Amino acid sequence: MAAQEKKQATTTDRQATLTIDGKTVNFPIFDGVEGASVFDISKLYAETGHFTFDSGFMSTASCESKITYIDGDAGILRYRGYDIDQLADNSDYLEVSHLLLNGELPNAKQKTEFVRRINNHTMVHEQLHFLFRGFPRASHPMAVMAGAAASLAAFYHDSLDVNDAEQRELSAFRLIAKMPTLAAMAFKYSTGQPFIYPQNEMGFAENFLNMMFSTPCEKYKVNPVLARAMDKILILHADHEQNASTSTVRMAGSSGANPFACMSAGIASLWGPAHGGANEAVINMLREIGDVSKIPEFITKVKDKNSNVRLMGFGHRVYKNYDPRAKVLRSTLEEVLGELGQINEPLLKIAIELERIALSDEYFVSRKLYPNVDFYSGIIYRAMGIPSKMFTVLFAVARTAGWIAQWKEMMDDPKNKIARPRQLFTGSAARAFVPLEKR
Ligand code: ACO
Repeated sequence: MAAQEKKQATTTDRQATLTIDGKTVNFPIFDGVEGASVFDISKLYAETGHFTFDSGFMSTASCESKITYIDGDAGILRYRGYDIDQLADNSDYLEVSHLLLNGELPNAKQKTEFVRRINNHTMVHEQLHFLFRGFPRASHPMAVMAGAAASLAAFYHDSLDVNDAEQRELSAFRLIAKMPTLAAMAFKYSTGQPFIYPQNEMGFAENFLNMMFSTPCEKYKVNPVLARAMDKILILHADHEQNASTSTVRMAGSSGANPFACMSAGIASLWGPAHGGANEAVINMLREIGDVSKIPEFITKVKDKNSNVRLMGFGHRVYKNYDPRAKVLRSTLEEVLGELGQINEPLLKIAIELERIALSDEYFVSRKLYPNVDFYSGIIYRAMGIPSKMFTVLFAVARTAGWIAQWKEMMDDPKNKIARPRQLFTGSAARAFVPLEKR
């Protein structure tokens, strides 16, 4: 059977055998459609009285999923079987959201209906303006986003029943539609400008740029090259399999928590610098280098094990080959800078020289440290006039489609149970309580 025709994990004749304390136990092995096979250890504790220990999930598949496939060694990222570059070049973010949620690209009629339903939910409850006004203007927009996303549960009671498939779908539409509105509100609030309402006659990315940059006194003409670049960035970040924030969304949702609360948990996880914050760090690094002439000195520091300096935007835990998203953004970057007449921008010159060195220098080549998606996205955002503290917010807007698709997949699965990892306890053994006067 062709790989793409297989519908689910298949049992194999192979088994993994473990011998422990003289007892031999067999575990069934399952093959996925592609990628590493797994052996099912769910009965391990019952059979042997042992748990496995795998801090950071280095060798653990936490779920079965049909949504996204990554082969880091080959530099492959696919949503529902489609290569990411094909989607970025030929599709748009809402089509991709439909694909992630429903498993198929929409036909023309389905697309019209999907866009109509999204547009139906782009506005947020007017009361949310007061929630925003409670935050200090200097708040980090990710703090505002985490609060605003969770607060949606207080406004939309009619889609909180996670056991009702229609309500789950309604929440999915609400989240995809409202996240750009909330993100633009967080930005506007930080600048002291009035909120701009969504315009449903605009495309998804175009509307987002308009809510970011339009003001009541001056109409903002959205540049189609920038809108297309933004849409591509949204597609490229829409899902990435079981990363930290997605796993957080699934884990929060496994208890039956409502989807708005789960998205807020995902935003919190994404906020960490090891996850969503790298593109901001790229801009800081380029600024710190300051000039092409300072690059050799900086590279010497990067190679020095004692310096703790890393070349930000290079390397990836999963991609030990070129990050396929970076390939798409490399050409998008040139289009955007060409359109904006920023091709001679000093930071860009530094970025291009760093890229050249990293792709030819033995240190980087031997460690397979290629530019990742964050290397280019930060530079594109900066050229568009988006401040660096909004970069992770944009990641959250894009990832909403993936988070909600993964949450929905888990909730649709009748085998879903609350996620409850175990531990290797290394604290104090049992001891007698000591009264205060004797401590
Ligand atoms: N600059 C310099 N050296 C590096 C870098 C880097 N960016 N990344 C890894 N290395 C070196 C390490 O020092 C190590 O060298 P050694 O073998 O001599 O000790 C080797 O490459 C392997 O590094 P690890 O840390 O084991 O690689 P890991 O897969 O755990 O790390 C990570 C991946 C965290 C992304 C890392 O490459 C890094 O810190 N990159 C910079 C930050 C960044 O761009 N993050 C964004 C990731 S993309 C995303 O999240 C969307």
